[in-house]
Amino acid sequence: MEIKTIASRPFPDQRPGTSGLRKKVTVFQKPHYLENFVQATFNALGGVDKKQIAIGGDGRFFNQQALQTIIRMAAANGIKKIMVGLSGILSTPAASCVIRKYRLDGAFILSASHNPGGPRGDFGIKFNTANGGPAPEKVTEKIYKESLALKSYRTIDNPDINLDEIAVFTIGDLQLEVFDPVKDYADLMAEIFDFDLIGSLLRNPDFSFRFDAMHAVTGPYAEEIFVNRLGAAADSLLNCTPKPDFGGGHPDPNLKYAAELVALMFADKAPAFGAASDGDGDRNMILGDNFFVNPSDSVAVIAANAHLIKGYKNGLKGLARSMPTSCALDAVAKELKIECFETPTGWKFFGNLLDAGRLSICGEESFGTSSDHVREKDGLWAVLCWLNLLAVKKLSVNNIVNEHWRKFGRNFYSRHDYEEVDSKIANTIAADLRDRLATLAGRKFGALEVSRADDFSYRDPIDNSLSENQGLRLIFSDNSRIILRLSGTGTKGATLRLYFEKIEKDPAKMNLDPQTALAPLIKLAEELTDIRKLTGRLEPTVIT
Ligand code: G1P
Ligand code: ZN
Repeated sequence: MEIKTIASRPFPDQRPGTSGLRKKVTVFQKPHYLENFVQATFNALGGVDKKQIAIGGDGRFFNQQALQTIIRMAAANGIKKIMVGLSGILSTPAASCVIRKYRLDGAFILSASHNPGGPRGDFGIKFNTANGGPAPEKVTEKIYKESLALKSYRTIDNPDINLDEIAVFTIGDLQLEVFDPVKDYADLMAEIFDFDLIGSLLRNPDFSFRFDAMHAVTGPYAEEIFVNRLGAAADSLLNCTPKPDFGGGHPDPNLKYAAELVALMFADKAPAFGAASDGDGDRNMILGDNFFVNPSDSVAVIAANAHLIKGYKNGLKGLARSMPTSCALDAVAKELKIECFETPTGWKFFGNLLDAGRLSICGEESFGTSSDHVREKDGLWAVLCWLNLLAVKKLSVNNIVNEHWRKFGRNFYSRHDYEEVDSKIANTIAADLRDRLATLAGRKFGALEVSRADDFSYRDPIDNSLSENQGLRLIFSDNSRIILRLSGTGTKGATLRLYFEKIEKDPAKMNLDPQTALAPLIKLAEELTDIRKLTGRLEPTVIT
């Protein structure tokens, strides 16, 4: 096996964002672009001689080609063993599961999550470390530094490997195993959840359920778990064949992009329960009959009822949410008398707390929920949590959430996204508000009085690292909040996110539409930022 050293030059734009490096497919297709990033990662890890990793992705366009490139480079860089998901498919939570189960040194996950795919769509790559979680900031910054200093990468000449059958290959000293990650992942779910109980619910003719895989990675996982192991009818599953362009759709499980499922669930005689997952299987959306569960509420409901689930019956260590996520979870932590951490946006910030045994269940407003069973958010896990709760409580989704609000209060919550905004304009909007923060504290706007205005920063309680500039916050005297952040996952222009929260304790006011309940905050944010005028948009691109 002859190792070739290929001369290359740095690309200036390989700094990983909220979740790895995401760019247009056409950027990744540039000669040496992917190779540089892979070599920079290997270098940042101090070399990968004798290491063992997993690789796979969400099946999007360029997945197969990228896998073959990584395999050649892994062989040339001395990796001892690679486990590749069958057909190159590996969901993000399954990657986390297999790293931990087989004690690997890490994994490359090829995905741009919920971003559209296809030749004109997005591609992405991220590295997860030996704990199963996304590389922390100190590693991603090292990768970026290595990418800027890169002069060459190592590869070999080797024909493409057939990844469509379970098999073991030898390439020089590298052992390559094509394996079935669906089995490993489904086995882990069976350890956490009571499959007999959930199975009897799914087989009950009076219960109806739909799961939409959005032509993305969770299709094979959903078939194995819901149909083969739990006995649900095959027609409960929608769009379960992964496609390189996600069937032309936008694989983001929200009210806008999961339109097919939403139409079913908001029809007359809708199913009792509906759920969807995203491109790489880490997000989830939970729906009841004509009812949307806000993700911030979903994680709070799961945490409050976790003692009813086999895997959590001995209690929870702690809870955590990202800063823009509603404070509904904090109320649960208070009731359970356990810690609740507030971290910056992005799953990588939960990793240290999970590893330190300080945290059991965590979530983000962006349809991400999970626990210490892996080090990623986990879409199907959240769906199974809800099915488990429905089976135990014998209540509808709507009633479970309403019961929760009556006990803890309702945190009205909404996020408004302005996508593909000119980067300069987006940066100016954020910078202007940042400059005015100091003057806003103490000011009154009608009934709203600003008690705190800051740019969120986070000191990791485990390794003491500091992450600054994580989102502009206005916190009001009644604990309402307005938050402004720039997305770190977009690939075209900039995405501005405005988040709104208001806590309501009066049961008589709990069934308002969130946009109505939050209207004064929305109006104030628009006045303070001038966002509609400056972006030239009449309304946000997506409202959740
Ligand atoms: C978005 C979400 C964030 C999530 C990330 C990866 O990041 O807001 O919560 O962790 O996608 O799925 P953003 O685009 O806001 O940086
Ligand atoms: Zn995702």
